[in-house]
Amino acid sequence: MSKELKIEAAKAALGFVKDGMKLGIGTGSTADEFIRLLAVEVKNGLSIIGVPTSERSHALCAELEVPLTTLEETPELDLTIDGADELDGDMRLIKGGGGALLREKIVAAASGQMVVIVDESKVVETLGTFPLPIEVNPFGLGATRIAISKLADKLGLVGEIALRGGDKPFVTDGGHFILDASFSRIPDAEGLSDELLNIPGVVQHGLFIGLASAAVIAGPEGIRIIKR
Ligand code: A5P
Repeated sequence: MSKELKIEAAKAALGFVKDGMKLGIGTGSTADEFIRLLAVEVKNGLSIIGVPTSERSHALCAELEVPLTTLEETPELDLTIDGADELDGDMRLIKGGGGALLREKIVAAASGQMVVIVDESKVVETLGTFPLPIEVNPFGLGATRIAISKLADKLGLVGEIALRGGDKPFVTDGGHFILDASFSRIPDAEGLSDELLNIPGVVQHGLFIGLASAAVIAGPEGIRIIKR
């Protein structure tokens, strides 16, 4: 996704932001562009307060003086704007390429609306080409990995399940690890979601189902907005 398209998507998403809103602020390179544009609006007088979905977004918001709060102080938000790794026709998403999926999902679920900002290349017919990030507790990693493999076998899903970072595992903001599952196709996202969450060592996964209410899709022909 070119930087220009990320900026175009982020600009269009600003149209959803109204004065006085409590915002969830996403993570990733597209969300970074949104934060930069939001900061300009704030300097020009827009009044919002935001909950960032990662330490990374927190740092950028703080640097650009975007007013921040926490979900403890502000547990109900109006709108979350966030990127995604994949988006299907039913507005189901794969997220977590940047490792922030747990906070992203908590923040999106606490928001009245979630608007996704992506480019056309992220729109897919069936989710799964992008490896599904599964956030797991470091305790019992081996057992959790086996349980996920057995579940994949049961559901007919084939593909490598790799520990992100390998010998030097990537650690999330919550202190967990990520297993990236290269299933290629996930025909039953709801079924996989439910069953993954039944594995005790799984903290959360990157399938976002029923959370996004609109998507701003940037392409060479311009912006397309779809709503659920
Ligand atoms: C962060 O954990 C992810 O969910 C991101 O929202 C997603 O990876 C999109 O990132 P980019 O905007 O950098 O493609």
